[in-house]
Amino acid sequence: MAQNIFDDPTFFAEYKNLRENEPNYNDLLEQPAMRALLPDLTGKTVLDIGCGFGHNCRDFVGRGAKGVVGIDLSEKMLAVAKAENALPEIEYRRMDMAALDTLDETFDFVYSSLAFHYAADFPKLCADIYARLNPGGMLLFSQEHPFTTCSMHDSNHYVRDANGRAVAYALSHYAERGRRTGKWFVDDVENYHRTMGDIVTALARAGFLIDCMVEPEPSPEALQIRPGLEKEFIKPTFLIVRAEKCK
Ligand SMILES: C[S@@+](CC[C@H](N)C(=O)[O-])C[C@H]1O[C@@H](n2cnc3c(N)ncnc32)[C@H](O)[C@@H]1O
Repeated sequence: MAQNIFDDPTFFAEYKNLRENEPNYNDLLEQPAMRALLPDLTGKTVLDIGCGFGHNCRDFVGRGAKGVVGIDLSEKMLAVAKAENALPEIEYRRMDMAALDTLDETFDFVYSSLAFHYAADFPKLCADIYARLNPGGMLLFSQEHPFTTCSMHDSNHYVRDANGRAVAYALSHYAERGRRTGKWFVDDVENYHRTMGDIVTALARAGFLIDCMVEPEPSPEALQIRPGLEKEFIKPTFLIVRAEKCK
């Protein structure tokens, strides 16, 4: 059973505050890189896996999508999505991404922002998505980078110079795949580590043609707003993949 940490009241309140009130990593780094890779959505059907507050579902309709299904495990996240990002073209459903094989419909575009590192079985997830994509369909997802998910312990892995400036990153446990728990607002938040090779192999074996992989770098404007983002030049936080179903 997948952990549903976003329904923990403390976690939910802290996460909502992070997303609403700060110039955060999503807004400055991940979302600009994801938007740059979006295909033309005119007349397309879309599945958003781990849709959260539904911002992206709304955006897809604005870009011409004719129907969007947003799935998420968290009742609290879906409640916000339904209250703040409801449109006739969008259907929000409570669903574990591990159960995608129970979906009847197929889609032209499958999108997921920062949810796949919560999936225990990535090869199954890839196969399930491939089966639910129409021929010529596309998958675009972001997740925490394997260089971020690998380390086992909550500590500051940055090596700093005499002035406190980060100059290197000490990662560890890269080859030890599987479940990790750590503190993010609350203790024991669960996610899953797999190597870059595991991710590429799972996508390829599911049948996907990988079109591009991006490790987002901050723009000069983003660095002005949040200078600490310069650490992204040492070690990426996010991995983004765009892949196609050719047949
Ligand atoms: C970091 S949030 C990202 C939300 C949204 N995609 C965004 O970018 O704003 C991750 C989301 O994935 C959802 N999630 C985590 N595990 C899941 C699972 N097994 N099945 C479906 N959704 C899941 C969480 O409830 C949460 O809403």
